[in-house]
Amino acid sequence: PSQLNAHPHLDCHRRIAVVHNGIIENYGELRAELEARGHRFLSETDSEVLAHLVEEEYGGDLLQAVARALARVRGSFALGAMAAPEPRRLVAARRHSPLVVGIGEDETLLASDCPAFLPYTREALFLEEDEVALLTPGSCAVYRLSDLEPVERSPQTITWSAAQAEKGGFKHFMLKEIYEQPTALRETVAGRLVERGGGVALEGLEPMAQALKGASRLVLLACGTSWHAGLVARYWMEELAGVPVQVELASEFRYSRIPLDPSVAVVAISQSGETADTLAGMRKARERGCPLVAVCNVVGSTMTREADATLYTHAGPEIGVASTKAFTSQLGILYLMALHLAHLRAGLAPDRAREEAEGLLATAHLLEEGLLGWHQRAREVAERFHHAKDFLFLGRDLLYPVALEGALKLKEISYIHAEGYAAGEMKHGPIALIDGDMPVLSLVAPGPVWEKSLANVEEVRSRKGRVICVAQEGDRAAAELAEELIEVPSGIPYRFQPFAYTVPLQLLAYEAAVMKGCDVDQPRNLAKSVTVE
Ligand code: M6R
Repeated sequence: PSQLNAHPHLDCHRRIAVVHNGIIENYGELRAELEARGHRFLSETDSEVLAHLVEEEYGGDLLQAVARALARVRGSFALGAMAAPEPRRLVAARRHSPLVVGIGEDETLLASDCPAFLPYTREALFLEEDEVALLTPGSCAVYRLSDLEPVERSPQTITWSAAQAEKGGFKHFMLKEIYEQPTALRETVAGRLVERGGGVALEGLEPMAQALKGASRLVLLACGTSWHAGLVARYWMEELAGVPVQVELASEFRYSRIPLDPSVAVVAISQSGETADTLAGMRKARERGCPLVAVCNVVGSTMTREADATLYTHAGPEIGVASTKAFTSQLGILYLMALHLAHLRAGLAPDRAREEAEGLLATAHLLEEGLLGWHQRAREVAERFHHAKDFLFLGRDLLYPVALEGALKLKEISYIHAEGYAAGEMKHGPIALIDGDMPVLSLVAPGPVWEKSLANVEEVRSRKGRVICVAQEGDRAAAELAEELIEVPSGIPYRFQPFAYTVPLQLLAYEAAVMKGCDVDQPRNLAKSVTVE
């Protein structure tokens, strides 16, 4: 974040300009070589070596120069390059970082992700690994990077409209996306319910039936919010299908010694389909012969192309850096997947599976009815607590991942330090943090751990902690203990509680961030798609 390090980077004669996303791993070596040959560097970034490498290779044909320059590079790149002598040409190339070309009328656009050019065109041409493209105002030709052999590739039509990717009257994308959750959940579920008497149809998963039926275990792989969706899904899959499930942080998994073999089915969960750590985890699983399923929101993204099968969430474009509706849609599709596994492995009858899945549609309705009320309460609670320095989020069982998600939302957009804990872990350390200044948001829900959750709230109260409870309507015990109460409708089936309990936490984070004057949609230091390690 400085003028000097900002892109584009230029060569010594300011004739070559390069923008680059990724990491040049042999940057140190290359820079030393280039400097020894007289190149002058202005920035401290690895990207600048690309401009100088292209400069060395340039003899009047930018495409060739880029291909030759990249042959000397190790690492990841999605780049765009221009040369002053060829003003109406732009060369793009990718390895391990996403890149997509938008084909407009008399204009061609280059981006890491489609929403960037949706206002101009919906025709998208995705570049694959080790490809280079030559863009002119009216065309895009794709070649193999290694030998510049032409590659046939047709654009795909992106069905999201530009309007869908705009704010639609909301102050921020995040708020719009929070309000879109009932629709996102419905869209994800509805098309997958077979007519009465039928079950749940997960198109794309058919070729995986044997692999999923016989899998010794499932590994769910993801980062951030998508990882939290995986943590919730584990409860469903283990309970409904009896299959052992391991949920892994992709950034750890990629370097782990976890035993893997072809009997282990791996499910990568990602909104963007471009997260570098999750992709690396998938590639590791691929090397060990594991069947791979992607759960993804972006059509044509790298993960969907590398997986054996893809289950799309139909959340629509998610622009806010804080993931909200993608999470709800991931929960929706993962619940359907749990039912599918239950059918394959535990003989769940199709009509029962369908009935269960219909519960998701009822949940979408509950979210719709709850939104305005939760928003109002979230505003009131944020009003009192947005100056807090720290926050704890506590939950048990299915609501433990929701506590983690609530804490992540709050910290990433309001910069309030927040931690989520399994409430039963309090006594093993975190309880020492409780004093009269510590807000503790406790998730309390009827079910097998209701009493235990209340006991945890009492522990906090007795240490003067400031308790905010999210609890079901009519939960008098929770209401008596809480300094602030946010109610969710009663009667939500136990399994669906994560949907309803998450939304007020998103709204609380949103309101706290707005009150603190934070940049809600573009929080500092964060990117929407984390395409580098
Ligand atoms: O696109 P992905 O789902 O793979 O992204 C994973 C995380 O980077 C993402 O969920 C991140 O944690 C969000 N900013 C959370 O709101």
